[in-house]
Amino acid sequence: MKALVLNEIKRPLDFEDRPGPVGEEGEVIVRLRAAALNRRDYWITQGLYPAIRCPVILGSDGAGIVAASSGGADSSWQGREVIINPGYGWGDKSTVQGPDFRILGMPDDGTFAEEIAVPTTQLYPKPDHLGWEEAAALPLAGLTAYRALFSQGKLQKGEKVLITGIGGGVASIAMQLATAAGAAVFVTSSSQVKIDRAVSMGAAAGFDYTESEWAESLTSQHGSIDLIIDGAGGTGYSALIDVASAGGRIVNYGATAGAPDTIELRKVFWKQLHLVGSTMGSGEDFEAMLEMVNQFRIKPVIDHVFPLSKGNEALQRMETSPQFGKLVLRTT
Ligand SMILES: NC(=O)c1ccc[n+]([C@@H]2O[C@H](COP(=O)([O-])OP(=O)(O)OC[C@H]3O[C@@H](n4cnc5c(N)ncnc54)[C@H](OP(=O)(O)O)[C@@H]3O)[C@@H](O)[C@H]2O)c1
Repeated sequence: MKALVLNEIKRPLDFEDRPGPVGEEGEVIVRLRAAALNRRDYWITQGLYPAIRCPVILGSDGAGIVAASSGGADSSWQGREVIINPGYGWGDKSTVQGPDFRILGMPDDGTFAEEIAVPTTQLYPKPDHLGWEEAAALPLAGLTAYRALFSQGKLQKGEKVLITGIGGGVASIAMQLATAAGAAVFVTSSSQVKIDRAVSMGAAAGFDYTESEWAESLTSQHGSIDLIIDGAGGTGYSALIDVASAGGRIVNYGATAGAPDTIELRKVFWKQLHLVGSTMGSGEDFEAMLEMVNQFRIKPVIDHVFPLSKGNEALQRMETSPQFGKLVLRTT
């Protein structure tokens, strides 16, 4: 089969012929129709991720058809259209992943390939209203957004939510989920075009985080924010503390912009803020996310689709982040 392989960090992926996967006990072979990129794939290619192992097929997100089953695998999956939950080995606790937690696509071979071996425990039916590319765009970002908003962020209908960096894959689906849940959604972006697009999709308003006064503009026009969903961190984090309402929650799931240079602890304790971390999600989070996506017929926003052979072009697009939504690879 064809696959995009990371043979060495800081080098383009190689589009190679690889032996087809051999399923172990309890696994099926999924013939992938589409895969999607996450910033994790980019971090790994740049050597900015712990315990990188090469050679490896990257890719955490995929959708396809179950083509074959090995011993012990539930044969009822045969021939079904599926998506893959990329969070393996979450463990028993709903509050936090256990020591065996890992993400599909390093160390295990991932979805940037024509086929993949997957335990049936990671399979979920593809939502009928999604095309292959939309289905592939959903799992990792949808799961991360769902847990950040609901399991960790405790979002309630009617609350005000701020989602930072709306061009991001997680951010864009977080906006769709929060809007469906009846929240008033505000966004930030470095791009007015992306803000306009978010507003056309249901956001109440957007602010350019590269402008120094954006936080004051937001609070003077709309008041303070109940829940903030942030994947950037960095120097902009202190503005989030200013924007949060007293007793509000700031859920952080990423650090694209690095660590904050300072955190005003006096504001944190005086405003009685909840600073919460969130990482991907449990199997229950995945099921609940899928239920919501099906109920509200949510379609992940796709920025661009590339053939599998052009995966390096998709990764390059992540360097400067002109995208709005997900970058997808067509695998067959
Ligand atoms: N903990 C987890 O389980 C988990 C899961 C998924 C992702 N992550 C992490 O979360 C982050 C986002 O992931 P993703 O896949 O959604 O990435 P992505 O699609 O590549 O997101 C890129 C977006 O980040 C935004 N951004 C960049 N610098 C920013 C800043 N200083 N302030 C605000 N926004 C900024 C930009 O938004 P604009 O273009 O609108 O300016 C950009 O479009 C990454 O760091 C990723 O590693 C963590």
